[in-house]
Amino acid sequence: MIILGLESSCDETGVGIVRLDSDGYMDILANEVASSMEQHARFGGVVPEIASRAHLEALPQVVRAALDAAGIGKPDAVAATVGPGLAGALLVGASAAKALAAAWGVPFYGVNHLGGHVAVANLEGQKLPHAVALLVSGGHTQLLEVDAVGKPMRELGTTLDDAAGEAYDKVARLLGLGYPGGPVIDRLAARGQVTIALPRGLSRAEDLRGERRYDFSFSGLKTAVARYVEKAEREGVVVSVEDVCASFQEAVADVLTAKAVMACEDTGARTLLLGGGVAANRRLRTLAQQRCAAAGVELRVPPLELCTDNGVMIAAVAAQLIHEGALPSGLACGTDTQLEVETPLVDGVRG
Ligand code: KG4
Ligand code: ZN
Repeated sequence: MIILGLESSCDETGVGIVRLDSDGYMDILANEVASSMEQHARFGGVVPEIASRAHLEALPQVVRAALDAAGIGKPDAVAATVGPGLAGALLVGASAAKALAAAWGVPFYGVNHLGGHVAVANLEGQKLPHAVALLVSGGHTQLLEVDAVGKPMRELGTTLDDAAGEAYDKVARLLGLGYPGGPVIDRLAARGQVTIALPRGLSRAEDLRGERRYDFSFSGLKTAVARYVEKAEREGVVVSVEDVCASFQEAVADVLTAKAVMACEDTGARTLLLGGGVAANRRLRTLAQQRCAAAGVELRVPPLELCTDNGVMIAAVAAQLIHEGALPSGLACGTDTQLEVETPLVDGVRG
C-alpha cells in the first residue's frame, strides 16, 4: 500500500510518499520539500500570509515531483497535516490533499503534525519503543511521552513563550546576523567561549518541584542577551559575537537536555527522540548525547531531512494508523491550529 503525505503547517511545503508492507514496515519512495523561508528573511520570522500563498503556488509542482520520484500515477491513500500550525497554511494543504483524495478516489487521513515528527522514528525497519520526544523547531518546543507511533501522546511540557528556534531567530536578529538564526549562531558559537552568565528559564528548584517542571521559557534569556549587548555598547566594551552566541547556545542546550533527560528518568523511558529543525544544532546534539549516555538512555536523532518539516512524516503516521486498522477521516474533517497531542488522527463526518 502506498501513502502520500502532505505537510503545510508552517513554511515548508512537503510531499512524501511511503510504501507500507504487510508487516507494518515503511520505505520512503519520495521526499520533496519546497520552503518559503527566503521570502520571510527580511521580516526575521515566518509571516503567515506569505507562507499560505507560497504553499498554494508550490503545491502542484511539489506533488508532481513526488509522484515522479516514486514512479507512480496515484497513491492508495492521501494524508495531510490538519494541525497544529498556522491557520491559512493548514487550510491550503489540507484542502489540496482532500481534493487530490477525492479526484483519485482514495481515502483521506487528517493527522497530527507532532505525531508526524515522532513517526519518522518508525521508518526503514525501525520501531520506536516507549520514549520521550523532544521536538524543537521555529514553531514548537515540546516534551512528549510516547508509547508508540500513531498512539495518543502525553504532553509533559512546552514553552510558555518563544519556541526554541524562535529564540535563536530573535537573538540572531538582535545581533544583526540575519534569518534563520539557528545555523549562523551554531557556526559562530563553535568559535566562541561560554563567558557570559545567562539565565536558565524555569530551572530553579521551585520550578522543578511544581507543575512547570517540564516547561520552558526563552524570553528571559533573549532579554538578558539584549541587555548584555546594550550595556557593553553603552560602556564602549567590544562585544565578542562568538562568545555571545556560545553563551546563549549553552543556555538553550543546557535547559532542553536537562529537562528531557529528567523526563526520561521520571517516566522510565529508555529512549529519547530528538526532532524539529533545532535538532540540527551541534551543541544540543553533543550535550544530549553526553547526558543520555550518563543516564543510560538511548538517543535517537533521525536524519536531518526527516527532523525538519516534511511530507514523509505525515505519510508515516498515516501508514502506522492504517496498519492498525484506523478508519479514514471524512472529507468534512476540519483543520485545528491548536490540535492537541492526544489526537493522532482527526475524524470527520462519515457519509
Ligand atoms: O523544523 P524547521 O525547519 O521549521 C519550522 O520551524 O517549522 O525549524 C526551523 C528552525 C528555525 O528557527 C532555525 O533557526 C532553527 O530551526 N535551526 C537551528 C539550526 N538549524 C535550524 N537552530 C539551532 N541550531 C541549528 N543548527
Ligand atoms: Zn514541525
